[in-house]
Order: sequence, then C-alpha cells, then structure tokens
Amino acid sequence: METVTGGAPPAPRRGEPREAEVRLPSPARSGPDGAGAPWWRGAVVYQVYVRSFRDADGDGIGDLAGVRAGLDDLARLGVDAIWLNPCYPSPQRDHGYDIADYRDVDPVYGTLADLDALIADAHARGIRVVMDIVPNHCSDRHPWFRAAVAADPGSDARSRFLFVDSDGSDEPPNAWTSVFGGSAWTRVPDGSADPQWYFHAFDSSQPDFDWSAEDVRAGFDDILRFWFDRGVDGFRIDVAHGLVKRTPLPIDDPSQDGLWRQGGVVDVYRRWRRIGDSYRGSDGGDEPRYFIGEAWADDPAFLRSITAPDALHQSFAFALLIQPWFAHRLRAAIDASLAAAGPEGPAWALSNHDVHRLATRLGQERIDRDFDPLDMLSGARRTGPVDPDLGLRRARAAAALLLALPGTVYLYQGDELGLFEVLDLPDGARQDPIWRRTGGRELGRDGCRVPLPWTADGPSMGFGPDDGAAPWLPQPEDYRGHARDRAENDPASILALHRRLIALRRDLVGSADGLEWIDPAPPGVLAFAVGGLVCATNTEGADAAWRPPAGARLVLSTCDGAEPGVVPGDSTTWYALDA
Ligand code: NOJ
Repeated sequence: METVTGGAPPAPRRGEPREAEVRLPSPARSGPDGAGAPWWRGAVVYQVYVRSFRDADGDGIGDLAGVRAGLDDLARLGVDAIWLNPCYPSPQRDHGYDIADYRDVDPVYGTLADLDALIADAHARGIRVVMDIVPNHCSDRHPWFRAAVAADPGSDARSRFLFVDSDGSDEPPNAWTSVFGGSAWTRVPDGSADPQWYFHAFDSSQPDFDWSAEDVRAGFDDILRFWFDRGVDGFRIDVAHGLVKRTPLPIDDPSQDGLWRQGGVVDVYRRWRRIGDSYRGSDGGDEPRYFIGEAWADDPAFLRSITAPDALHQSFAFALLIQPWFAHRLRAAIDASLAAAGPEGPAWALSNHDVHRLATRLGQERIDRDFDPLDMLSGARRTGPVDPDLGLRRARAAAALLLALPGTVYLYQGDELGLFEVLDLPDGARQDPIWRRTGGRELGRDGCRVPLPWTADGPSMGFGPDDGAAPWLPQPEDYRGHARDRAENDPASILALHRRLIALRRDLVGSADGLEWIDPAPPGVLAFAVGGLVCATNTEGADAAWRPPAGARLVLSTCDGAEPGVVPGDSTTWYALDA
C-alpha cells in the first residue's frame, strides 16, 4: 500500500460506527492546545448561499433569520461549521461579491444583531461560523471607490485601486478580458478631460484594490478584527490567488499572467494569520481563527506557499472538483491535492455556488481527458444532455467518496437533497453578471443558486412563508420531489445518506490526515484506507469484484444490494476496520 499524507502525523480515531450524533466540543471548550486537533481538521463545513437558503421575512430572498431557522436541520445533518456567502451591504450586482461596506449586514439579509444571534445560536449547537471576505475588489459604491472617482489622477484616493491613464482614445489600455467576459477596463469619469481607466478582474462594478497600498492592507486588518471580535470563527477568502498583482502592472503583457498567483500575496496572509492567531486564549474562548483560500491554481508550489504554517490554514482542493467520473482521474487529483496541501491538510469540495450542480455534472457524458483548473466552463459548467438517474446514483457515490477523504470537507447547500442544476431558467430571470456580460453565450451560475425546497407543498416549497413574495429565482416543479421534509422521512434518501456518512466519518475518519491506496484494485475502482475506514468507489457501470482487507466490516453502501466482495457499479462502499 502506498502512503500519501497531507502534512502532520495522522491522528486516526477508530470506533464502532453509530448513527448517534456526536458533537465536536463547543467553541468555548476546544482549542489547539486543549482537547486535540483544531476544529477544522476532519470537519464537515456546510456552505450556505444565504440568498437561496431560507426566506424568513417573505420578501422572496433568503436571509440570516432563515439561516437561524434552519440551524436545527443542519445540526441534525451533523455539520461542524457553516460558511456564509457574503451578506454585507452590497448593490448585489454579483450577489454580495461586490461589497459596499465591509462592517455591516445588507438589509435584505437582516441586521448585525441578526448575525450576532446566528453566531450565538450556531455556537450553542457546536457549529462554527465562517464568513466570506472579498479582498480582491469591492463594489463601485464603496466609499473608497467613490472617493477615488471623485479625486484626481495620481491622488492618494486613486492609489487604492488600479487606475491607468488613457491615451486619449476610446480604447482601453490593453485587451485584457474580465473573468465574467468583456473588457477588464472601465473608464472614469465619463466626459472628463483627463479620464483614467480602472481595472476590474470581474464586473465593472467590482474595481480591484491595489494591494501595494498600505492603507488597503491596514483597512482589511481592521475588518478582520471587527468580525473576529463578534465571534466569527474564520474566513473563506474570495479570489485568494488574485489580490496581489505584479508591480508595476504589466499592461504590455497580453497574457494576464501578472494578475494571478503572485508570490507576494503570502505576505498578506502571514499578516492575517498573526491576527487570527492572536485570538487564541482571548475573548473567553481559546481558539485561533481559521482562514481558507479560494485559489484557482494549477501550480502546487503556489498552493503550498499560501498554506505555509504561518499563512492560510487551507485552500480548496479544486483539482478534485473538476475531474470527470473516472477512478484514475479522481485518484490522481486526490494525490495531487494531498501533496499540494499545507500542514492543516486539504479542504475538499465537489460543488459550490460557481459551478453546475454535482448530480447534473455526473449525469452528463464523461470525457476522459485533462480539464484546465483555470477554466471552469470546460470542467464544471458544461451543458449537454443529463441522465438524472445516473447523475443521482453517482452523486451518492461521490458524496461517500468525498466524506471519506482526510482533511476538511465542504458541502454545498442542496447537494444533500440531490438537487440538479436548473438549466432552463427563463432568460428574463437570470441575474448572474456572466450571463449579461457574455450576451447570453454562457448561462452563468444562476442554475445552482435556485432557492432550496424545504417542503414538497406550498407555493415556494417552504423556502419562504406561503403568503410571501415569489422566490428570487423560480423553482422548477421537480424540486418538490427533492424537498427536505420528504427526504427527512425517507431512510433511502440522499439526505439520510449524508447524515449517516457524516456520523460515520466522525468516528472512522476523524482528523486523520493521510490515506493509503489499496492496490491492486480492478479498473474503475478506487480503494483506500483512512483512519478506521476503508472506502471503495466504483466509477464504472458494471459491478466489480473487490474484497477489502481482512477484518474490514461492511457498514454502508450508496446503493441497494451491496455485498462483501462486490462494489456495485457507480457506487461507494464503506467498511470499518476493527480497532
Ligand atoms: C469567486 C466567487 O465564488 C464568485 O461567486 C464571485 O463571483 C467571484 N469570486 C468574484 O468575487
């Protein structure tokens, strides 16, 4: 057996599998120097896209009170933490990734008091709260950008952003394109004698900060402290590979390489880590705060550098997310991600609010080739015919594979209900700037953000009150079949499967940080041991003959009729190793 580890020595936890809920220590009791591993090692983090989770006030848009109302369901699911997508005041041009005020809550989502109450309620259930910080850019309504636009070229106010002079023509400084389509430059102010262009990696309403400006750095230090002081347990860092650009901005280089993955970003994260670590032992708790980066990168050295022991704790292992459903490709991505992870291990996700839903992707035609991790469209936002039965069967198998992996696991809301991408939203309903900026060439991401179905009945399927406004994106009728209330009472549902996987993971995988491949395995079968668990996933349609090591006991299969000695097609089987 080949051993692959992600960093620190393994700390396997073994025991009898049981469904009973076992909670991690509450925030007040645990800590790195106290009861073992820090909370994020081995944790399951549930991603809450607030806008689409649950609407308590009936305006058709999810809110923080709705998240509070759903906490018991999340506690029953067994998650250790929630990650909230941005809920700061924002014009919502990119649904919160365009922040106008980093120290408040958008009224559409509630108030600061609602957030405080959510943190308190979550902590009372042993659930940590991770917020989303967007440091690469802000909204064009942010006071700093408004001041910059009002100020002269060369002013201090403009030095916080990436302004460059115009040559007097209507042409932008170069042909750089925005990630969302169209030019990466917008000119301000319109009609002025000395117009300048500002750079935006995303929408024109999202001007990029210049991170070489010290007051940008100092400003974010204060923002972090503001939220940590309120009890926020950590941050997911948006565009973590993009903050720092090559200086001076290489505008003569058409490649755009100087915009991403610059080594200097690690200095920012070292600074943040010192702030997060300073909370250890303070405010009545004893926990450092946690940082995870959203870094799309194909360079392991860069990923390792940002998760050095004095920088971020983790960055997402996106290499796995983009893989087609082939055992050899999944294995290679797992190996690469373990090798690229820092001492706190990898953070795995198969889905999020930027890619097509897992069940849809897995129900599409498989293509056995490399996908570019920097091009989500090819790997994770493909269109094409979908076989829903196959997609769901594989989504169950994929969930069991994901939840067997050592490290931290992120689940995207709705995947526990087996939701599919809504590919046929009416054009008029679509809101993603990608749809707008590509003139409809790309569908964008609305289809994975459709409000959740809580009940099979009711006009908004329990997303909001029955007499409330219609959900901000229309829910397809077939979402009723995925409703949480129906799944709750069905022991064969994908929700019941997730609950069982998470409970078993706690006992069998725990905070183990390495896995051992079990070879040989038949073609199409991925088999490994981790902590006290053996996991075997068959990515082919036909059953495979495969036996786990002696002493391993079958505890779970993602499909009916699994027997020791066979891994049914497109399924995963879990075995417990007797201690
Ligand atoms: C990544 C976020 O996940 C995505 O939703 C957002 O549009 C971009 N960053 C820009 O902030």
